[in-house]
Amino acid sequence: MEELIMSQQVPVLILKEDTERTRGRDAQRNNIMAAIVIAEAVKSALGPKGMDKMLVDSFGDVTVSNDGATILKEMDVAHPAAKMVIEVAKTVDAEVGDGTTTAAILTGDLLKQAEKLLDQKIHPTTIISGYRKAANKALEVIDSVAETVDPAAADYRKILIDVARTSMSSKFASTYREPLAKMVVDAVLAIRKDLPEGEELDVENIPRQKQVGMSVDHTELVKGLVLDKEIIHAGMPKRLENAKILLLESALEIEKTELTAKVSITDPSGMQSFLQEEERMLKSMVDKIVQSGANVVIAQKGIDDVVQHFLAKKGIMAVRRIKKSDVERVHETTGAAIVSKIQNLTSSDLGKAKLVEERTVGDDKMLFIEGTPKSSVVTLLVRGGTDHIVDEVDRALNDALHVVVDVVKHPQITYGGGALAAEISMKLREYATTLEGREQYGANAFADAIESLPTTLAENAGMDPIDVIVNLRKSHTEGHVYHGINLNLMRVDDMKKAKVIEPAIVNKQIIMSAAEAAQMILKIDDVISSKGAPSAGGGAPGGEHEGGDDE
Ligand SMILES: Nc1ncnc2c1ncn2[C@@H]1O[C@H](COP(=O)(O)OP(=O)(O)O)[C@@H](O)[C@H]1O
Ligand SMILES: [Mg+2]
Repeated sequence: MEELIMSQQVPVLILKEDTERTRGRDAQRNNIMAAIVIAEAVKSALGPKGMDKMLVDSFGDVTVSNDGATILKEMDVAHPAAKMVIEVAKTVDAEVGDGTTTAAILTGDLLKQAEKLLDQKIHPTTIISGYRKAANKALEVIDSVAETVDPAAADYRKILIDVARTSMSSKFASTYREPLAKMVVDAVLAIRKDLPEGEELDVENIPRQKQVGMSVDHTELVKGLVLDKEIIHAGMPKRLENAKILLLESALEIEKTELTAKVSITDPSGMQSFLQEEERMLKSMVDKIVQSGANVVIAQKGIDDVVQHFLAKKGIMAVRRIKKSDVERVHETTGAAIVSKIQNLTSSDLGKAKLVEERTVGDDKMLFIEGTPKSSVVTLLVRGGTDHIVDEVDRALNDALHVVVDVVKHPQITYGGGALAAEISMKLREYATTLEGREQYGANAFADAIESLPTTLAENAGMDPIDVIVNLRKSHTEGHVYHGINLNLMRVDDMKKAKVIEPAIVNKQIIMSAAEAAQMILKIDDVISSKGAPSAGGGAPGGEHEGGDDE
């Protein structure tokens, strides 16, 4: 469609031909519909009774997941407003690591409620300001009902385990959530202990090694570092106590350029002396290593066969081609310097470990480095019967690690199963009565949208959502702040007693991100898409290209 502006009777073409434009109520309706469709798509995955999704990408690779962020990331969505909902999930995932499905659902329901108000001719600006106020109020409610956990309290570890368990209860790994939750908490507490001053606790500091083979209950927390590498030479020891570790950035090989340039061999004895020279150089590298006192060599690059042979003869263990990130980890945990020039090697460059041992894990061999100077080092060995299971368990562990870190950093907790949502929506309805005129509608709509969370939890569990909401409202009016849907007992009950605990920060992030995205989408009343861009005017996510395909 071309856009014309009349200026002094001369038509001026300001948008390119084939630019597509939807405006006003149409643009709003299309955007809202697209966002709702995305939110609806993940609804059935919410909560412990939620179902999993199987996603197949264009290469035919399959992902089976219950994780909102994962599902949404894998979905190939074209509509810009739908993409904004996916961004909400991604933001929540990046900031707090859990609550992604909830955030997408809330965004969708905020828009669904807004759509009703738009139909009643309430102006988007009014809805937006009502939403903004309601979101702030919701954050206040979270602060007022959240409980503070004291790191010095006797039950601190137990609470953290409950938090980890809650986040895993909606995942495939939930069958194993008890031992996994303990592992996660022990891992976080271990690294927290040795955290240098001023450094943030970070899930990245707990490496996870995925391992297919055996079952999920063989997942374990190893105190130490695990490298997915096997010892390179059969003649080397498989186990060394009091290891002195040489960490090498360069290769234990003779670089071609050092020799080839000048060598021209004219007779067999020349060849002989050339090979002898090469061997002599390699041997001198090994001598240097032996002199330093090292008995373990960990190399980022290759190790020549001849060197392997000499090292084995000296009883030195070696692994090669380890990842750059593992080089950093070995450096930090064992204290080994990252050596690049073997000629300058001294004993002070070596790192230490009480034990370095190759062990068979499933079908693979891995190198375990234990008893290092930095004692807080841990690795999670994630196991499961198939690739898909290992991946999904790994994602569950990732969520659980995040929520535990969240609570360690921000020691405020709330109770789940819709308990917090029910309290917020009740308080928002009270608050709405204090607002002027039409903003009330916005605040009430926000309350309705929040209530869709317990509704969805109930629906997914096959409970009657209307009964559940009636009971929930009643409990909360009677002052039972922690009453939610206990999905183990299938009734409205005290979620504090049920130990369904979440970080307050996760719920705050959900509210902030969802409210912002909803307001942003509501503010749009003009969609201009250039040719070839995914059509926003198509009405549905992945909408057809109306802008012409004549390229
Ligand atoms: N035992 C339980 N009973 C009721 N609700 C639960 C229970 N465990 C977890 N939940 C709820 O499940 C929801 C989280 O589901 P989940 O599928 O992990 O979605 P998200 O991606 O939003 O974290 C939260 O509302 C949480 O309170
Ligand atoms: Mg979750």
